[in-house]
Amino acid sequence: MSGILSGKVALITGASSGIGAAAARVFAREGAAVVLAARRERELRDLVDELTAKGFEAAYSVTDVTRPEEVERAVSTAVGDYGRLDVAFNNAGLGAEQTPMHLMDDEVFDAIVEVNLRGVWLCMSRQIRQMLAGGGGAIVNTSSVGGLVATPVAAPYVIAKHAVVGATRAAAAEYAKQGIRVNAIAPGTTRSEMIEAWFALRPGMEELLHAVTPQGRTAEPEEVAEAAAWLASDRASFVTGVTLPVDGGYTLI
Ligand SMILES: NC(=O)c1ccc[n+]([C@@H]2O[C@H](COP(=O)([O-])OP(=O)(O)OC[C@H]3O[C@@H](n4cnc5c(N)ncnc54)[C@H](O)[C@@H]3O)[C@@H](O)[C@H]2O)c1
Repeated sequence: MSGILSGKVALITGASSGIGAAAARVFAREGAAVVLAARRERELRDLVDELTAKGFEAAYSVTDVTRPEEVERAVSTAVGDYGRLDVAFNNAGLGAEQTPMHLMDDEVFDAIVEVNLRGVWLCMSRQIRQMLAGGGGAIVNTSSVGGLVATPVAAPYVIAKHAVVGATRAAAAEYAKQGIRVNAIAPGTTRSEMIEAWFALRPGMEELLHAVTPQGRTAEPEEVAEAAAWLASDRASFVTGVTLPVDGGYTLI
């Protein structure tokens, strides 16, 4: 099997839909054995069946990224099934209603930060333990254009996604000498369950976003997954601590 992730063992969170499911297909096609982690077992099982039917190596572990023991089980699945963990794509995330900050329930803030930031923290810390034992690795976190600029979505999302950029930089600085690279992607509008639900509540929003995106369209999840695959691969061997916009130019202007 030749591909930019040939021979790698990769753990992907939020793999039951959208960018995570696309990453499962792209990473597997590029030669990785993939371990899919998300909460919905049926979707995970179907995707594993699809990938194994094509001759790829794939397994799943039902995982809520806010639960440390489930994150640890997902890492153990990679090690138990495939012997090690080389790559992690921490992509699980939760969108939020567009409510003004001063009217927002504190519980909404807690829920968004718990998945989008603390979930990334729990994943990275457990993955790094394993990668140190295995002699190195590469982590890619999913931030957002909302992690680079204050897009008019819910403030907790913007806050948490900015923090993912900081978490990526902190981990990259801390583990560079130990052979672990840590990067992030910042997707712009990408066709997925999250964005379809968001568009459904806001007629005209998709067209509005196209108007402020130089490439003038919504990305397919595979286009975002391709960027994550490259950052996770040895082709990006001297790249660490960056957050790569995959946004059709949205953050250019
Ligand atoms: N779609 C976009 O336009 C867009 C833009 C910027 C960033 N993002 C980010 O991309 C990532 C993927 O989102 P998507 O667009 O593919 O949407 P999506 O809703 O299809 O996928 C999100 C995935 O995360 C999973 N998830 C949520 N909470 C979880 C938890 N506690 N534990 C485990 N899994 C959990 C969901 O079940 C789902 O599989 C998210 O981090 C999102 O914030 C998306």
